[in-house]
Amino acid sequence: MILETERLILRPWREDDVADLYIYASDPDVGPPAGWPPHTSVENSLEIIRTVLSAPETYAVCLKESCKPIGSIGFHRNDLAEQDDEYELGYWIGKPFWGQGLIPEASREMLRYAFEDLGMNRIWCGYYDGNEKSRRVQEKLGFVYQRRTEGIEVSLLGEIRTGHSNLMTKERWQKVELFRQQKKLLDTFLQNGAISRAQYDKSLGDLRELMEMHGVE
Ligand SMILES: CC(C)(COP(=O)(O)OP(=O)(O)OC[C@H]1O[C@@H](n2cnc3c(N)ncnc32)[C@H](O)[C@@H]1OP(=O)(O)O)[C@@H](O)C(=O)NCCC(=O)NCCS
Repeated sequence: MILETERLILRPWREDDVADLYIYASDPDVGPPAGWPPHTSVENSLEIIRTVLSAPETYAVCLKESCKPIGSIGFHRNDLAEQDDEYELGYWIGKPFWGQGLIPEASREMLRYAFEDLGMNRIWCGYYDGNEKSRRVQEKLGFVYQRRTEGIEVSLLGEIRTGHSNLMTKERWQKVELFRQQKKLLDTFLQNGAISRAQYDKSLGDLRELMEMHGVE
């Protein structure tokens, strides 16, 4: 499967991605917050491509402009997602690309794919205590906080951590998407001069009120 967003292509990992993978995954600020150790060599990255990143529904996040992988995103099942119609979303992106909204962009497409194409009903997403960047991604996507779990064994790092889990149901995703599209439409109308700033502010205010009524911020 190949998925596409405005700036990204999400496609299966390939063995010839190894050099790019090593550049980003050897950074000690990338793996450990997600629970895995930095890659130690190009050979180690190749092994990870063969044993971990080759799993189903795991995608290299590639910039359209360079066609090169800069991160990874995928679905898996674990203690958060136990049912056949549930998945857990996981992601990371190379540090030079942080802060450009690329993982939220990739995640939105993954959510669409899960709910519309894969027939999922619930997508979980978690982060370890203190991972504010990931917490923020999940908040921006509209996930709803579920619970805090202490004493999670992070076996690859030999650590015990506290985790937080968030959930997106299909029903909530439909609302979040609807509101996001309406906001996009208003932005386009404003840019084209089809509506005045005052009309935009009024419509946006109404939309925000409606969103709050539906529990979507
Ligand atoms: C978490 C992560 C995937 C976010 O991806 P991203 O594409 O940068 O996401 P965003 O651009 O939406 O940025 C998310 C938040 O990170 C923070 N951030 C952005 N750029 C940053 C930077 N250069 N340095 C530190 N924090 C930064 C901001 O708080 C931002 O939130 P904001 O939009 O409210 O400002 C990325 O930081 C990452 O790969 N981290 C290491 C691996 C990891 O933690 N994976 C998730 C495991 S649960």
